[in-house]
Amino acid sequence: MDENTDTLEIKMSTNIPEKSPSESHAEVIVRMFPSDANPAGNVFGGEILKNIDMVAGIVAQRHSQSNAVTVSLDSVNFLKPVFVGNVLFLNARINYVHNSSMEIEVKAEAEDIVTGIRTVTATAFVTFVALGKNGKPNPVPNLSLKTDEDRVKFEEGKSRMETRLKNRQK
Ligand SMILES: CC(C)(COP(=O)(O)OP(=O)(O)OC[C@H]1O[C@@H](n2cnc3c(N)ncnc32)[C@H](O)[C@@H]1OP(=O)(O)O)[C@@H](O)C(=O)NCCC(=O)NCCS
Repeated sequence: MDENTDTLEIKMSTNIPEKSPSESHAEVIVRMFPSDANPAGNVFGGEILKNIDMVAGIVAQRHSQSNAVTVSLDSVNFLKPVFVGNVLFLNARINYVHNSSMEIEVKAEAEDIVTGIRTVTATAFVTFVALGKNGKPNPVPNLSLKTDEDRVKFEEGKSRMETRLKNRQK
């Protein structure tokens, strides 16, 4: 076994109380302005990514109750365009934790506030690592899986994390 896949096998024991995914769930609503878009009015992918990273960071810090930094952003899909004037709804939940790492799933929907039509525009998985005051990776609470959805998402998250670590470049 190589050193990257090894990481998932050895789970440090921790006395930190478990937390459920619903305790750190976050929703953020942001209005899109002309400065967020190209001259045709399409919002930049980078602007949406910034907001995905921001809402995922809220979840990571709520779960870990510490500083947390992005180490990976993957499976980003831009499904539909977002336009100037749309309201972006970002919904984020924690799926999986290991020792210091956390997989956060984000779904972004855009609402045309004149028609009221809301469309899923982007989805992504963001991995955060909790850092202690010394700036080093710090253990996070284990996940208390309350629902069938929590359990399914945990297993899917674990599988994605194994793939991520296999592909990780140091
Ligand atoms: C976070 C950081 C301190 C981790 O340092 P490191 O030397 O990679 O530490 P480790 O190898 O001990 O890994 C620590 C954890 O991060 C996870 N990790 C690191 N890189 C990862 C990646 N690309 N994808 C998924 N998990 C990753 C490891 O699996 C490990 O998880 P675990 O504790 O749950 O087992 C370092 O990578 C860093 O500072 N990165 C920059 C973060 C940053 O500034 N982000 C903002 C955007 S630039």
